[in-house]
Amino acid sequence: MSLIEIKDVSYSYNMENKAVDGVSFDIEAGSYTTVIGHNGSGKSTLAKLIAGLLELKEGEIIINGLKVNEENIYEIRKDLGIVFQNPDNQFIGSTVRDDIAFGLENRLVESDKMDSIIEEYAETVGLSSFLDYEPQNLSGGQKQRVAIAGTLAMKPSILIFDEATSMLDPKGKKEIKKLMAQLAEGDDITIISITHDIEEVLQSDMCVVLNKGRLFMYDKPEKVFSDPERLRKINLDIPFNLKVKEEFGKNKIKLKANDLEGMVEELCRSRSKH
Ligand SMILES: Nc1ncnc2c1ncn2[C@@H]1O[C@H](COP(=O)(O)OP(=O)(O)O)[C@@H](O)[C@H]1O
Ligand SMILES: [Mg+2]
Repeated sequence: MSLIEIKDVSYSYNMENKAVDGVSFDIEAGSYTTVIGHNGSGKSTLAKLIAGLLELKEGEIIINGLKVNEENIYEIRKDLGIVFQNPDNQFIGSTVRDDIAFGLENRLVESDKMDSIIEEYAETVGLSSFLDYEPQNLSGGQKQRVAIAGTLAMKPSILIFDEATSMLDPKGKKEIKKLMAQLAEGDDITIISITHDIEEVLQSDMCVVLNKGRLFMYDKPEKVFSDPERLRKINLDIPFNLKVKEEFGKNKIKLKANDLEGMVEELCRSRSKH
């Protein structure tokens, strides 16, 4: 049995069109799944349905044997954390420390243990020296790290990131990606991450491609990207290094393995010769 079973799920916000349209796939326990697709392809809607933040009316989602519905959602949410793109909507505490503490207090974590948990996760996201800051005085990227720390501190076994790193600067993105890869290494955490970051997709186990609310592909990332023609059909930009490889293929030039900068340089050189 898979940890998360998504069965023929559809969702409409209005009568005109379906935001999610007949989507089915299973997610294995301990796996790291990325979800890609154009804006409006239904990624956030699907994430909210999995997290029980939108009421499922068509199809069903089963998490750990429990159907996502009003009756079970409390039980399911105990073990599920979700981080959204916009950190401004996610703050509750008056300081960073309070904010990370909020979820822990809800879980009735003893107060003498709380400080060490808060400090551990503040360090994980690189905010140790900001614990007494007011969240509204932080930058977008820092706010997002607080949201991530607060979610991680609850140790959910299912972690959903909805473009959670899109507000971060490149360094911040890299750090969180590294953290996600570390979290994914063990078998006890299942990650679903909606992303536009190809590097992140390549570090995941499975990749869901949504197009106009429908499941377009669900496969290992290397499989998804091995068919650029298919991705191009839905105008999904293929990874830059794949484009470069394609170009090399056309020009029949030998590659230095994975040396992207070298590839680009050689490509430019070969172009200027033509
Ligand atoms: N709250 C909402 N009310 C009405 N329509 C919405 C709402 N949220 C999303 N939609 C519509 O549902 C579709 C899917 O949106 P969404 O799930 O946010 O896509 P994505 O996360 O892939 O950008 C889009 O057509 C979007 O306009
Ligand atoms: Mg979205």
